[in-house]
Amino acid sequence: MSGDKRVHTSVPDTETAIDRNLPEFPAAKPIDEDNYFRLHKPPPYLSQISRDVAEFINYHHLQKRKIVLVTSGGTTVPLENNTVRFIDNFSAGTRGATSAEYFLENGYAVVFLHREFSLLPYSRHYSHTTNCFLDYMTESKDGKVEVNAEFQKEMIVVLRKYRYAQSNNLLLLVPFTTVHQYLFTLKLIAQELSVIGSDALFYLAAAVSDFFLPSSRVPEHKIQSQESGGKLVVDLEPVPKFLSRLVDSWAPISMIVSFKLETDSSILIKKARGALERYNHQLVIGNLLQSRKYEVVFVTQESERWVRLSQEQVDAGIDIESLIIPEVIKLHQSSIEEKKKMGL
Ligand code: PMT
Repeated sequence: MSGDKRVHTSVPDTETAIDRNLPEFPAAKPIDEDNYFRLHKPPPYLSQISRDVAEFINYHHLQKRKIVLVTSGGTTVPLENNTVRFIDNFSAGTRGATSAEYFLENGYAVVFLHREFSLLPYSRHYSHTTNCFLDYMTESKDGKVEVNAEFQKEMIVVLRKYRYAQSNNLLLLVPFTTVHQYLFTLKLIAQELSVIGSDALFYLAAAVSDFFLPSSRVPEHKIQSQESGGKLVVDLEPVPKFLSRLVDSWAPISMIVSFKLETDSSILIKKARGALERYNHQLVIGNLLQSRKYEVVFVTQESERWVRLSQEQVDAGIDIESLIIPEVIKLHQSSIEEKKKMGL
């Protein structure tokens, strides 16, 4: 055993080969949602995450701090257990990592359920922006490594925020790689968070696979190119729409914010409203792939409202999340007050 106690989700589960005894996973209908959890094995590390999350929630609940679950990054669908090929969903993790920072700045504790090796709060400023973190460094005259003068001013601000979050135990990092790991972990965290009811907020920025390959059909080893006459025909099942389970059953009292990503501006609001009607939660934030860093649309049961950066704000490098998060927090506060009036 190494001393590294962190969970790593990018390591494939090589122990499980194709299991012909597993019943065939049925096509997803609303009533079949629970089949997913019945017919698939939970990730082996889930109990460790359960302990960490329960401890984190307890700690902050005692201090009457609100907790947000931020999901971030894209989920994968492996085509083999010893995974060489997989299908991926687009997301660098920018939205999630940046949003997490603004939640922390506004007094929330954050459970950050993220695609392993995607962007993280604070380190995102440096991890993917240059070829190498060493680009931020320079050698002083007396042979010491220092931060380059041009980055000092900004880096000290980020460093202070990062240290504050760390020393106050405000940020819990929970990784996933596959859609399977994501769904099991989301369910677990949602159930743990349901203990704090309306003080919990779900901010679901992850890009979740719409299709998956049931465990009963995943081969153990790399698919050979000479199989099936050189063609690879992949027959995927729809991933059950777990947002409805989250809203109705896993966390019925908490506020839930989902995202809708589209590339065609003419259907964005319609699709966002469709999601709201389908799942009956509080807020869908719509964004377009092309303009997601500059504008988003808040769609609620009552209204739709664009939140945009001005040209000066874009030029000054302001994050759109610095506008999004205070708005979301206001809505969360109203939702808490409403639930309290209802005695929840
Ligand atoms: O990280 P960046 O590069 O900055 O990109 C950020 C983003 C564009 C990916 C992000 O802002 C965003 O829009 N995320 C949601 C993308 C999307 O449309 O996801 P989706 O269609 O897979 O899911 C929509 C919502 O339903 C999500 O909030 C998801 O949590 C939920 N869902 C999806 C599938 C499923 N089986 N169950 C779910 O609950």
